[in-house]
Amino acid sequence: MRIVLVGPPGAGKGTQAAYLAKNLSIPHISTGDLFRANISQGTDLGKQAKAYMDAGDLVPDSVTIGMAKDRMSQPDAANGFLLDGFPRNVSQAEALDEMLRAEGMRLDAVLDLEVPEDEVVKRIAGRRICRNDSSHVFHVTYSAPKTEGVCDTCGGELYQRADDSEDTVRNRLEVYHTQTEPIIDYYKAQGLVVTISALGKVTEVTERAMAALPNGD
Ligand code: AP5
Ligand code: ZN
Repeated sequence: MRIVLVGPPGAGKGTQAAYLAKNLSIPHISTGDLFRANISQGTDLGKQAKAYMDAGDLVPDSVTIGMAKDRMSQPDAANGFLLDGFPRNVSQAEALDEMLRAEGMRLDAVLDLEVPEDEVVKRIAGRRICRNDSSHVFHVTYSAPKTEGVCDTCGGELYQRADDSEDTVRNRLEVYHTQTEPIIDYYKAQGLVVTISALGKVTEVTERAMAALPNGD
């Protein structure tokens, strides 16, 4: 199964992707996580991405598309993947279509997570992430760790993302509306979009998503 997850910053894409990827036995590919790993390893790619991410702007397609293609070409993605944060504008969506077409493959669904703006702001403000593993995501009130600042899963230190400051979040939302939302219409024209509400408990949203996705492999 090849799925694209789309939704505003803080909608819960990363949170849901962790469960959905496990349920569907496909890798979770997050371009945001790939950029953050490159930044913490001090790679050239990380150096190129950092200023854009800190400002809440999109990293240029010339950097992003190649990185995403490389990751999708890894053996574990041969039978499917769950894309989180890619594509993020129409030219990335076109590049993905082209890549899939060249391999004789196609997307099965685009899962659109709908959340009101005041809720995403609350989710982002309280988010804390583990330094050891970016899939260990907590929230200071909605899913608080047992000990403040410490990851329940591995004991790692929890931190707040640099781009989760109020000003940057405002820009990320603006970028989402102007550059990313148009891909929903792009995929609607292909009949691929399933929209679900991402309000409610994490487990409820996962159930809703699993019910909405087409069967297939
Ligand atoms: P990226 O890392 O993709 O960030 P994003 O899209 O802004 O999304 P977030 O990670 O903020 O939110 P999420 O939807 O994953 O929410 P989460 O599950 O954590 O991108 C960051 C930057 O990288 C971009 O700004 C850009 O610069 C660059 N970039 C990345 N991809 C790019 C691309 N393709 N092209 C160009 N640039 C790119 O949940 C949020 C919080 O809510 C958590 O605390 C969680 O615990 C809580 N939560 C989740 N679900 C629930 C629930 N149901 N109820 C209550 N709380 C919940
Ligand atoms: Zn951890």
